[in-house]
Amino acid sequence: MTAPMPPPAPVRTVLVTGASSGIGRCVALGLKQRGWAVFATARSDADLQALGDAGLTPVPLDLATSASTLAAAKTVLEATDGRLDALFNNAAFAQPGAVEDLSRDALRAQFEVNLFGTIELTNAVLPAMRARGHGRIVMNGSVLGLVAMPYRGAYNATKFALEGITDTLRLELRGSGVHAVLIEPGPIQSNFRAAARRQFEAHIDADHSAHAGRYRDMRRQTARGRRQSRFTRPPEAVLKKVIHALEAPRPRPRYYVTFPTHLFGFLRRVLPTRVLDWILARA
Ligand SMILES: NC(=O)c1ccc[n+]([C@@H]2O[C@H](COP(=O)([O-])OP(=O)(O)OC[C@H]3O[C@@H](n4cnc5c(N)ncnc54)[C@H](OP(=O)(O)O)[C@@H]3O)[C@@H](O)[C@H]2O)c1
Repeated sequence: MTAPMPPPAPVRTVLVTGASSGIGRCVALGLKQRGWAVFATARSDADLQALGDAGLTPVPLDLATSASTLAAAKTVLEATDGRLDALFNNAAFAQPGAVEDLSRDALRAQFEVNLFGTIELTNAVLPAMRARGHGRIVMNGSVLGLVAMPYRGAYNATKFALEGITDTLRLELRGSGVHAVLIEPGPIQSNFRAAARRQFEAHIDADHSAHAGRYRDMRRQTARGRRQSRFTRPPEAVLKKVIHALEAPRPRPRYYVTFPTHLFGFLRRVLPTRVLDWILARA
């Protein structure tokens, strides 16, 4: 008599934010290939259609508003019957510009998406994960959450804040079966820089700034086509770490993806601030 077949393992479910391009799209497709049921978010109808065409379950999400953020969480929790295994908080953008050129509105918009919306979404799915005693919250951090760079203050501030709040969350989730994890990429090939340039042009009064000369140089470099850093990696490098964060029985608190994140993750712990500043001003 043959032994009865074990029941099939339940399909694991993940919500990936910001899947219209870059890292999010790569991770969403990569996880689907590994057998995950992937809910993938985007903002525009065309991007949502493309996600559906690629075999993902599209979910509209604009992290800038609570209404959209809470509606996305509700949609996914209803579709999974409360059995969401993982959330990859990937969606974000960068608002470049010197700190003294940032309006309150520009700074607030940066925090609304990169921090407030991200945490609101996380908090909306956490009760279901706690109830099952199982789940992964994976945050997409940045090398700019580890060290500062000139003209990146708004983005730096949100990614430093994400480091802090994720470290707190990890401590608060101890023993719950839910793990909070940080992925530290940068630089990665994506649409990120193009989006950042649009934010700069929209919100920074470059001609009337104390930094006008530096902005002119940056625009000239952009017009010539900025060289890609030799440390830039494809988004698949992030996918590899996300897979470990989601599937390892004991995920690491932090995953460094690129050489600069390994380097600066180490240097910020050992160098005096003045020495680190000297290096960062030239990076
Ligand atoms: N590329 C890098 O070098 C690098 C380095 C370190 C960290 N990261 C991090 O990696 C993550 C993904 O960035 P990426 O490099 O893949 O850039 P990307 O190609 O520009 O992707 C960003 C994604 O976020 C979405 N997004 C932006 N604003 C949003 C909002 N208000 N609500 C919902 N979604 C929004 C974008 O959607 P739309 O298409 O609708 O704009 C897009 O899907 C970000 O957290 C970024 O901070 C990137």
